[in-house]
Amino acid sequence: MNKIDIVLGLQWGDEGKGKIADFLTPQYDIVARFQGGPNAGHSLKFNGQTHVLNTIPSGIFHSACKNIIGNGVVVDPVRIKAEIERVELAGADVRANLIFSKKAHLILPTHRLLDAASEHSKGDSKIGSTLRGIGPTYRDKIGRNGLRIGDITTKDFKTKYEKIKTEHLSLIGFLGYADFDLAVLEAEFFEACEYLKTFQMADTEYLINDWVTSKKILAEGAQGSMLDIDFGSYPYVTSSNTISGGAPNGLGFAPQKIGQVYGIFKAYCTRVGSGPFPTELEDEVGENLRKKGNEFGATTGRPRRCGWIDLVALKYAIMLSGVNYLIMMKSDVLSGFEEVKVCTGYKVNGEVTTQVPFDLCNETVEPIYESFKGWTEDLTICRTKSELPKNFHDYITYIETALDMPINIISVGPDREQTIIS
Ligand code: GDP
Ligand code: IMO
Ligand code: MG
Repeated sequence: MNKIDIVLGLQWGDEGKGKIADFLTPQYDIVARFQGGPNAGHSLKFNGQTHVLNTIPSGIFHSACKNIIGNGVVVDPVRIKAEIERVELAGADVRANLIFSKKAHLILPTHRLLDAASEHSKGDSKIGSTLRGIGPTYRDKIGRNGLRIGDITTKDFKTKYEKIKTEHLSLIGFLGYADFDLAVLEAEFFEACEYLKTFQMADTEYLINDWVTSKKILAEGAQGSMLDIDFGSYPYVTSSNTISGGAPNGLGFAPQKIGQVYGIFKAYCTRVGSGPFPTELEDEVGENLRKKGNEFGATTGRPRRCGWIDLVALKYAIMLSGVNYLIMMKSDVLSGFEEVKVCTGYKVNGEVTTQVPFDLCNETVEPIYESFKGWTEDLTICRTKSELPKNFHDYITYIETALDMPINIISVGPDREQTIIS
């Protein structure tokens, strides 16, 4: 019996999951997304072109690979229609290779409005949501109020929709939000639902459990471990379980079938949206990281906050997901810094700790750093570990020792080719 491998982010998202899922796909027959929705933006680069995927799994550009959007994902028909059209134009056979779980929940137009209304009402304490309707859709799922993809084909779909819409509108009115034209949003929503009917839908948990006996399956996560609803920097998190435990639930397989867990992290750290970020650099060094790393959101275009790598958070994420294969991304971005730092612990209320405190939001967390001499060599042209400069070796050896695990892949650029297996 094969096991199901999982690829996931260990920081605050945007670690490079898309690039690695695409890079690993030739080893797999199926790539399956297990949580999140169009809040994600996964970038892939090959043949000189960059593609950004939001809800479609990152195996879609490999014609021999089936791609599943699992029950744990939330799907916006309007956005996925546009995404499918984009990906088809780039040559992918979406009709043959994409299968929706009938149990994936639908993001309705009023979920997006509720997201905006809720953020608006929070003022300074807003989450910095992507405003894609993620939180309100998961809230309705857990509250047993939601609509699922399988409902689109049922006779009373519109009746069910109207009931939920009415409830949403009263809440939106209560929050004092009125800046929308629902008729326009509804027209595009129902058109997109009709379009979705022409794609493959299934009880994908059966497919996955059938296929695992003879085929190789990669479960693809979205966001990052520090945005996990239970273990992230709550309440500044997303609304799903981003850690490996989310994969069995989000796809419908038993936990003992989990195989390799690929943990992806940047050689430094970024965060987009509000919330605590202990190693954030609000100075010229942070600005340089943003410029050199082109740290602007793949989905929203927002500038990402940048800082040094945080081993306290990284160890926590590795522990939570049982990561047994580490992948370091964007190593090339650190070239040219005089000094490079690694956060090894936090000082909280004068006490040193190597654990993530319960309330990361309200504690004053002072990072404790180990400093390394920088390097100037261009890493983007390196293709083997032996070509990497000595100071970079010192940097990663320190991290490997601290994490007590080898780093198995080092990424030195956005392209598939810029990947070193060590
Ligand atoms: P994801 O959400 O985890 O898939 O990551 P994103 O696609 O949102 O952000 C990662 C960004 O870094 C994208 O623009 C990638 O093209 C880019 N990228 C990925 N790996 C590397 C790398 O090793 N070096 C550099 N310079 N860019 C990378
Ligand atoms: P990928 O898969 C980075 C952040 C948002 C916000 C918080 C909640 O590309 O790594 P939400 O829209 O989920 O209610 O927003 O989570 N966020 C992400 N940050 N990468 C992502 O996805 C993210 N998806 C959500 O910025 O702070
Ligand atoms: Mg992203």
